[in-house]
Amino acid sequence: MNTTSSFTLDQIQFDLPTIINTTKSIYQNISWLQVIISLVVIILTYDQLMYQIRKGSIAGPAFKVWPIIGPFLESLDPKFEEYKSKWDSGDLSCVSIFHKFVVIASSRDLARKILGSPKYVKPCVVDVAIKILRPTNWVFLDGKAHTDYRRGLNGLFSQKALEIYIPVQEKYMDIYLKKFVNYDSPRQFFPEFRELLCALSLRTFCGDYITEEQISLIADNYYRITAALELVNFPIILPYTKTWYGKKIADETMKIFEDCAAMSKVEINDKDSKPACVMDEWIYLMKQAREGHDETNPDSKLLVREFTNREISEAIFTFLFASQDASSSLACWLFQIVSDRPDVVKKIREEQLRVRNNDPSVPLDLNLINEMTYTNNVVKESLRYRPPVLMVPYVVKQSFPVTDTYTAPKGSMIIPTLYPALHDPEVYPQPDEFIPERWENATGDMYKRNWLVFGTGPHVCLGKNYVLMLFTGMLGKFVMNADLIHHKTDLSEEIKVFATIFPKDDLILEWKSRDPTVL
Ligand code: HEM
Repeated sequence: MNTTSSFTLDQIQFDLPTIINTTKSIYQNISWLQVIISLVVIILTYDQLMYQIRKGSIAGPAFKVWPIIGPFLESLDPKFEEYKSKWDSGDLSCVSIFHKFVVIASSRDLARKILGSPKYVKPCVVDVAIKILRPTNWVFLDGKAHTDYRRGLNGLFSQKALEIYIPVQEKYMDIYLKKFVNYDSPRQFFPEFRELLCALSLRTFCGDYITEEQISLIADNYYRITAALELVNFPIILPYTKTWYGKKIADETMKIFEDCAAMSKVEINDKDSKPACVMDEWIYLMKQAREGHDETNPDSKLLVREFTNREISEAIFTFLFASQDASSSLACWLFQIVSDRPDVVKKIREEQLRVRNNDPSVPLDLNLINEMTYTNNVVKESLRYRPPVLMVPYVVKQSFPVTDTYTAPKGSMIIPTLYPALHDPEVYPQPDEFIPERWENATGDMYKRNWLVFGTGPHVCLGKNYVLMLFTGMLGKFVMNADLIHHKTDLSEEIKVFATIFPKDDLILEWKSRDPTVL
């Protein structure tokens, strides 16, 4: 290539034909290889430069060690220890994967600030989630539209509503308890608990409208939905890929829910039956609002609108989606922790008999569960010690001044982390110890400011009271009626990250039936 031609400024300015000829000759002499190399250099420089600009003063690698992709490969197989060292690296830290810039907030106050700033952020959903959960789904609403819709759903998880769901839940707890104690050898309980929780959720949401076969179909295939919605995924749905299977199962599940909603409308609207599940309660609240029965309740106005069976099915699907992984995670840790601690088991059994006046056959109800203070403290401590959701990804809608010195750029992902606040030694002394007794004299910070298990702000978990009620009742029943033997391995205490967190060995348990009347 001829790059040695020299020009005077006059020539350049006034000798147009020469300029054209020279440009032509340069152009003709540049090889494609040179063009490609130049482009690559420009892109790499741009990538590193943008990283530096967005990173500003916060913690994070000095430059992108893997150009463009960043720590993409690590993100395919996330490790708890790597997350933890990231949180420990600073209150605000960052990574950049492809063109996505990710800010991680690890302190309690910053996590709370982000979760409570709907003006600047909204929950981040992977592109494929909109296809799987459908664009019309309420979870994609933002701002006032979201708050209004949510207010209409609150009635489904009020104390009054939760009470309605207990009998159906207890029926299925009994069925599964019987199944577990009848196994003749120890086995991995990660899949068992996933199935149990799926069945309990589906019965709570759809009552007896859903069949056993439909529950099995959903329980067997649900993991495909989790796999399809991983944070890093190919955004186009190609046949027979993870996302294709995920969408297929989601569509089949929503169709089942749609049919259940139709049956529930007949029961509640036409036959005047009493609500027995979430769908019934929703339809009942709509009916009440329509008939103007509850004019003192401002939320009833929001339910006046008739929700179609399709809308109900989409919302119920989000409940399943939001609950399945987190609840299975809680079940694994809770039963692992309890079976390793005979002193905790003893106290639970004492309390269970005491609240039932020594008659273990007394059925569960809300008052009874509310009396189970110690059992409830064990559930809370398990949620604190091993919080199922480590962090919640949000996206920045407009430049967000997170601190006096750092502004998160528009379009970046910002991730408040929940784990560090729940292991803050100033609020929970000896944070890495499991101490249910700490809840006996709980401080405001323990309950409120640091209690980020369920998030906070406008998107705080809709099922938070439901979770505590369900698990307190279930833990009490299971521990009273069975001896749980944990077959420990070297991996039992290690944390596996699969959307939520699980013991790395998938929890090997053995259940033995016992006489619940003896201590
Ligand atoms: C151990 C069990 C559970 C844990 C740890 C958990 C945790 C969470 C967390 C951390 C969030 C995000 C909150 C935020 O962005 O501030 C969330 C949202 C949500 N959860 Fe849960 N959850 C659990 C079970 C459930 C259950 C059983 C249901 C339903 C019955 C449920 C329904 C929801 C819904 C609908 C949202 C989204 C709310 C919104 O965007 O307005 N969750 N949950």
